[in-house]
Amino acid sequence: MHLVSPAASVFLSVFMLILSTVEALKVIGGNVTVVQGGTAIFPCHLIDAPEVLNQISWQRKTRQKPQNNNFYTILKTGPKFVNGNDGRFKFIGDFDANNGTLQLSGVTLVEEGNYTCIFTLFPSGIHKTEIPLNVLVPPTTILKDDHPILGNKEVSLVTCTAAGSKPPAEIRWQTGDLTGKVRETINSTLNDNGTTTTISSLLGVPTKELNRQLVKCVVTSAAMMIEETLSFTIQVYFSPMEVTILETSEGSFKCETEANPSAKFNWSRIGLQLPQSAVSEGAVLRFKEITSDLNGLYQCEASNQHGNKHQKLQIYVVSGNCTVCWVLFSLLIILIVSAVAAVYLYTSGRFPRRVEREMVPTNEIGGAT
Ligand SMILES: *[C@@H]1O[C@H](CO)[C@@H](O)[C@H](O)[C@H]1NC(C)=O
Ligand SMILES: *[C@@H]1O[C@H](CO)[C@@H](O)[C@H](O)[C@H]1NC(C)=O
Repeated sequence: MHLVSPAASVFLSVFMLILSTVEALKVIGGNVTVVQGGTAIFPCHLIDAPEVLNQISWQRKTRQKPQNNNFYTILKTGPKFVNGNDGRFKFIGDFDANNGTLQLSGVTLVEEGNYTCIFTLFPSGIHKTEIPLNVLVPPTTILKDDHPILGNKEVSLVTCTAAGSKPPAEIRWQTGDLTGKVRETINSTLNDNGTTTTISSLLGVPTKELNRQLVKCVVTSAAMMIEETLSFTIQVYFSPMEVTILETSEGSFKCETEANPSAKFNWSRIGLQLPQSAVSEGAVLRFKEITSDLNGLYQCEASNQHGNKHQKLQIYVVSGNCTVCWVLFSLLIILIVSAVAAVYLYTSGRFPRRVEREMVPTNEIGGAT
């Protein structure tokens, strides 16, 4: 049989007495939620207390300091810090009115935790309430181009990140015309500091159809007043496609191709330097004088960081006793494909008319150069 010692029974009765007083007294606190950087007010009121108030003190425990520790004491003479000053705390209550309300400005995530407001009364002792401080952190949003390169396999096109959000942020995409052609992935990680990083990618087959399409990443979080929309124009990157050379005016040629990013052009003459009268400016090759010195095989190379492609241009100037000194300009674009393809294109009428008219049989050109 278990006996209750006299000492224990005395303790029990004292405890019962305190408990009955506590029921009459009440410390009213609250639950505080604030967005990081904002100001938190910890309300603390003692009501129905006819006793003498000795002091009000504040303790807290946070993620970094999980032990309850005293940091602030308010006496009739005024408040003071217990363990180092922190000017962001301010006593906004009233000691004589049993109001221990405290304010904290410039709240950071590390201050999240439980704050305890303690009234020390005579004779009944301490009466307290615990106030949780909940800090909301808006996410840092980033949109990243995943540099899809033209192809036929599904890849990530663009990635939207909402980093360090508390509570976790939500990400959704507005894909407009691409709905059904792209899909989303979503991934969340809980960080050590209690925030969550959410990452969502838009996946699709990087075809030209997707190039330059507008999509939007919409981020929502309880810590943000309004949702955030990040717009992005999808870029599908590819090396220069077929290169074509056009004669834009007499003695002036322009090289054209499709590439992303835009191609850089380089004109050269096969086996020889460009003639003195040639001016090459980006895509354009221009001859200031038309003489038979120009005769030869030229090449335009289009390139970007994904690759290059070139096209050749045969120039053959026929010298004659032409009075206005304009010479017959003959050019032939030597298609990289093959002579067969060239003949096919010629017969099928797919050559630009201008070139067709000035076409010179290949063997004649060969003999002249
Ligand atoms: C305090 O409020 C927050 C958000 O409103 C809630 O998540 C939390 O559970 C509340 N805590 C308590 C102890 O009521
Ligand atoms: C929380 O941790 C994440 C990941 O380490 C970091 O990016 C973020 O800045 C931190 N947030 C705060 C408020 O300390």
